[in-house]
This record gives sequence, C-alpha cells and structure tokens, in this order.
Amino acid sequence: MSLNIQEIRALFPVLHQEVNGKPLIYFDNAATTQKPISVIDALSAYYKNDNSNIHRGAHALADRATRYYENTRTLLQQFLNAREEAEIIFTKGTTEGINLVASTFGRKFINKGDEIIISTLEHHSNIVPWQMLCEEKGAILKIIPINEAGELDMQAFRGLISPSTKLVSIVHVSNALGTINPVEEIIELSHQVGAKVLLDGAQSTSHLEVDVQALDCDFLVFSAHKLYGPTGLGVLYGKRDLLDSMPPYQGGGEMIKEVTFAKTTYNELPFKFEAGTPNIGDVIAFGKALEFINHIGKKYIKAHEDELLAYANDSLSQIKGFIPVGTAKDKISVISFNINGMHPFDVGMMLDANGIAVRTGHHCTQPLMQRFGIEGTVRASFSVYNTKSEIDSLVASVSKIAKLKN
Ligand SMILES: Cc1ncc(COP(=O)(O)O)c(C=O)c1O
Repeated sequence: MSLNIQEIRALFPVLHQEVNGKPLIYFDNAATTQKPISVIDALSAYYKNDNSNIHRGAHALADRATRYYENTRTLLQQFLNAREEAEIIFTKGTTEGINLVASTFGRKFINKGDEIIISTLEHHSNIVPWQMLCEEKGAILKIIPINEAGELDMQAFRGLISPSTKLVSIVHVSNALGTINPVEEIIELSHQVGAKVLLDGAQSTSHLEVDVQALDCDFLVFSAHKLYGPTGLGVLYGKRDLLDSMPPYQGGGEMIKEVTFAKTTYNELPFKFEAGTPNIGDVIAFGKALEFINHIGKKYIKAHEDELLAYANDSLSQIKGFIPVGTAKDKISVISFNINGMHPFDVGMMLDANGIAVRTGHHCTQPLMQRFGIEGTVRASFSVYNTKSEIDSLVASVSKIAKLKN
C-alpha cells in the first residue's frame, strides 16, 4: 500500500463537504460505503463512450461493453478465489442473492420436514426468504441463539444440526454488532451432516479476506455498494455443481440456449441466472472498486479499521451512560451503543447536527434487538478513509449528549 490516509481521503469526493456547518464525518459505512472517484468516473465514461447492450451485439461498442463487463467477473473470481468465472453470478444485491438461492435451490431441494438453520444475528434479508420457503414447503426454521456479547452459541448449534438439516444460512459478520462468526467451524459441522452453507457476506467481504475455496462455503452473497461500488448490484458465488443442479431464477432473454413454443433449453453458467439486460454500467464501475481494494490491500484496510475500533472503544467506554451492545471478542469496526435514558434516534439527530453521520434503529435485525430487549441502537461503523481525529469528534459529541441525562 503506497497511499497514506490523506491520499486515500482525497480519492472520495463526497467526504469533502460540510453538513450543518461542520465537516462531514461519515460513520455509516456498514449501511453503504462512499465511492472513490475512479468508480464515479468509470460509470460516467461508460455512458459517455461505451453504452451498448452486451453479449449479443456485432459492433465495436457492444464488444467493448461486453469485455469491460466480463472483466469485472474475472476480478471477482480472483477476489474470492473462486474456481471459475462461471461461478460468479451478478444480482441486484445481497437480498436478491439470498432470494435467488431460496427460490431455486430451495424450490428443488427443500422438502416437507427438512430443516434450515439461521441465527439470531441475521439481517431480515436472511430471515424472511427462509420463512417464506418454510411456509411454502412445510420445512422448519431453526435459530442459533447468541450470548450477551453477541456471539453465536456454538454448543447450541451442535445440538440443532442433524441429518434433517438441509441448509445453514448464516451471516459471516453481523451488520448490527460487528461480530465475526466462526464460519469455518459452521461449514465443517454442516458438511458433516450433508447440509449446504450459504454465507451472507454483505459485511465481511469489505473487511476480511474471503476465500471461497479455503472456506469451502457452498454459496456466498454480497452487495457492491458496501465495497465502495455502486448500489443495486451484488454477487452470488455458488459451487458449479450446485448452480448446475438448480433451476433458473427468472425466465427471459440471455438465460436461454434455444426457445421454441414446445420447449426452452437454458444457457450455461453464469448466464442461466442472469435473465434480461443486466446492470452493465454499474458492473463495469464495480471493477474499479475492486481495483481500489486490491491496491490498498485488505490487510491494510483491516489493520487500519481495527486500530480505529480499539481507539474508539477505549474513549467511548469511559463515558458515563454509554452502553455498548455487542462486545464480541472477534469484531469488525462497528460500534453499536445506547445512551442511558435516551432514544437512539435522538442521539443520531444530535450527532447529525454536529456533522456526524451514524445509523440508528433496528438495522434490519428486529429479532436481534428483541433478544437484547431494546428498540434499537446507535451504530458507528468505520471504513478505510476514517481517521482518529474524526473519532475524537464522535467521542466529544457523545460525551456532551450523554451528559444531558447522566
Ligand atoms: C448482513 C447484511 N445482510 C444483508 C444486507 C442486505 O443488503 P442489500 O440491501 O444490499 O441487499 C445487509 C445490508 O445492510 C447486511 O448488512
């Protein structure tokens, strides 16, 4: 990594503005990360110079657009260490990736009485599709409990898993608490009973090295917008034999080999799961986000964010009335908290008045909030472009706010 933090910040135009008369401090990175100028420029360049539909065109623009689009797939195959590019499917995001697996793998392989295991830490997008599938199929949804720190109860998981378990769908890193789950162990135990494993990598892929072959996960889903890329775009990784065995998700153009009124045959992977004109411009721009991450290096990103996390934890925990929610030993750079006697939304509004952007509420994890008996939290999540001086400002503001009631 050859850039220092100020050089990294200079690559993100949005960071250089004032909000409510104060310099913007963006600590809502778990919701979505900001975009480097290379991503913004690539999107604009595509529409200025290359806009064309891909794969079918016989002209220069279509050829260019197709090459740029497929180049991002190649980058993703390398990013995840997938065996082949055909295992990389473009989706609208994490949510669509999970729904795709629920609708196709679920439709074909989940039957009455089968069991699916998720955890208390899940985002709604890794709960609701399975509830819908279980209702349709008469399957059973089982939930891994957590401890007070927000860590999975692995003893309980060992008790839940059985030959009836067909799928374990688990968040790699919790968006609400930052907990890093022991997915290697979960995958190993699941495979021992013949269950497949889907990892929700929405929060892990931007912070941790995620090697799908080393992990041996069956599916991995994530969203480009949490990885410095565009919104409305995501990735489903799946092992080839599984993807081959699953029916298509949507019918239409691109996903077919041959159509007659008597019968349709389906295209090969990955196109079987990419019906219709895809999000070409955003896929191309996402390639630049991956190049940005590769240039900085995940090791550097994680080390920098870990330093910010430790620094923030040290100071925030001294504040009277500060109540941390989620204190797992293994965490990414997310701090969820409440202030004694105050509603998280009010804390968020007061921080916003100081130019500090955080997220408040249930973070799309209502069952997790119910587990802790709270309505929600304030969540500050740090990224590669955040600084210790920004954390000093957060600590000073939280300190002042907490004094109102403590
Ligand atoms: C852990 C987790 N899963 C799933 C999602 C859903 O992602 P998207 O809305 O991009 O589909 C999110 C987004 O916040 C998340 O953090």
